[in-house]
Amino acid sequence: MSPLSDRALQTRPFHVMALLARAHAVRARGLQTVSMVVGEPDFPTPAPILRAAQAALAQQGQHYTDALGSMALRQAIAQDYADRDGLAIDPGRIAVTAGASAALLLIMGALINPGDEVLIADPGYPCNRQFILAMGGVPKPLVVSPEHHFAPTAEQVAAAWGPRTKALLLASPANPTGCLLPLEQARAIDRVVREKGGWFIADEIYLRLCFQAKPKSLLSFGDHLISVNSFSKTYSMTGWRLGWMVAPAAVIEVVERLAQNWFISPASLPQQAALAAFTPETQAVVETYRQAYAAQAAFVLPRLEALGFLVPARPDGAFYAYCDVSALTQSSYDLCLTACDELGVLLAPGRDFSDHQAERYLRVSFPKPIEVLSEGLDRLERYFLGRKARQTDSSV
Ligand SMILES: Cc1ncc(COP(=O)(O)O)c(C=O)c1O
Repeated sequence: MSPLSDRALQTRPFHVMALLARAHAVRARGLQTVSMVVGEPDFPTPAPILRAAQAALAQQGQHYTDALGSMALRQAIAQDYADRDGLAIDPGRIAVTAGASAALLLIMGALINPGDEVLIADPGYPCNRQFILAMGGVPKPLVVSPEHHFAPTAEQVAAAWGPRTKALLLASPANPTGCLLPLEQARAIDRVVREKGGWFIADEIYLRLCFQAKPKSLLSFGDHLISVNSFSKTYSMTGWRLGWMVAPAAVIEVVERLAQNWFISPASLPQQAALAAFTPETQAVVETYRQAYAAQAAFVLPRLEALGFLVPARPDGAFYAYCDVSALTQSSYDLCLTACDELGVLLAPGRDFSDHQAERYLRVSFPKPIEVLSEGLDRLERYFLGRKARQTDSSV
C-alpha cells in the first residue's frame, strides 16, 4: 500500500478523545461520568426550528440549493444583523456553509497560498491551525495572556506581522477562554491589520452568548472585515451543521467557486429549518438559553476558584472557563486523567488548545444543568480538599 499523506498523518488528534475512551472504562466499572468536556449546548434545538424542518420534509424533496445557500436564509441572516447590530449587510456578501468549520476552511481556501502565514491565538480553537495547514499555509500562534483577555494586543500583532503574513484569525468570545475581545483592543488590531494590508477574520460564533452586555458584531468596523458565525451554539444546532460567513464581495466571489466545487451546496433541510431561527418565538427560547449559561457561569466560577482551579480571566460569554491548575499539579493532563479515572469527571486538558503553558491550564465546559455541574464539582471538591487535608496531616 502506498503511504498516506504527510498532512493527514501529521494532523494532531484531540487529546480529549483519549479521555473519552478512558471514560468508557470508568462507566464499565459502574461509576457514572460527569462530562464537563464537550463544547456543545445541552439544550434542545428550539421547537419552531424542529417544526419548520418537519414541514419542509413533508412538503417536498430535498435538492441542492445555491452554492452560497438559499437567498431566503441569506436575507434572514442579513435582517438579523440589521435588527441586532444596526448593520446594513448586503445578503450577497453572505455565504451559508456547513457550520463555521466549512466557512473557516473556505476562507483559508480563498486567501491562502502555500507558505502564507496566518496569526492565531495560543490558547485557541485547535481546528484553526488545521484549516490553515490544509491550504499549505503556516499557522503562527501568538501567545496571549489573561491580562489582555487572552487576546493579542495591537502591538503584538504588529510585531508578529511578517512579509508572508496574510491574515489574523481571532474568536470573540474565544474558545477555550470565553473572553471577549474588548472593543478598543479590537479597533486597534483592526487598524494594524489594515495598515499591513492583511485580512482580519473574526470568529463570532459565541457573540450572541455573552452573559452581561450584548456586544455588536465586529462587522461594524466596515465591509473589509470577514466574520464567521454559526447556528451551532446560539441555536443548539451543532448536529445540523449550518453556519455562515460575511465577507467582502471579492472574497464571496471566490468562495462561491470553491463552495461549488467542494460542497455543491450546504444541506437544504437545515437551511429550511433555520429560517425559523429568527422568529420572535425562537429568539425568546434562545434568550432563556443565554441566561442559563450566564447562571451556570455564576454557579461554577466561584466553586472552581475555591478548589484551586483559578480563572485568571473570567469568561464574558460562551460556556467555558480556562482554569490555571498550577497550584494543584505540574501537569493539567495528568489532572484530567486522574479526574476521569478516579472521579469520573471529564475535563479538557490545556494541551488541546495550547503549546505554551499547556500543562498549567485546563478547560471546564459548563453548558449543563446545575445539578450535573454540582455533582461534578462535589466530586472534585471531595478529592482536592481531601488531598489537601491528607497533605496537612502528613506534614504535622
Ligand atoms: C471558536 C470556534 N469556532 C468554530 C467552531 C466550529 O463550529 P461549527 O459547529 O459551527 O462548525 C467551534 C466549535 O466548537 C469553535 O469553538
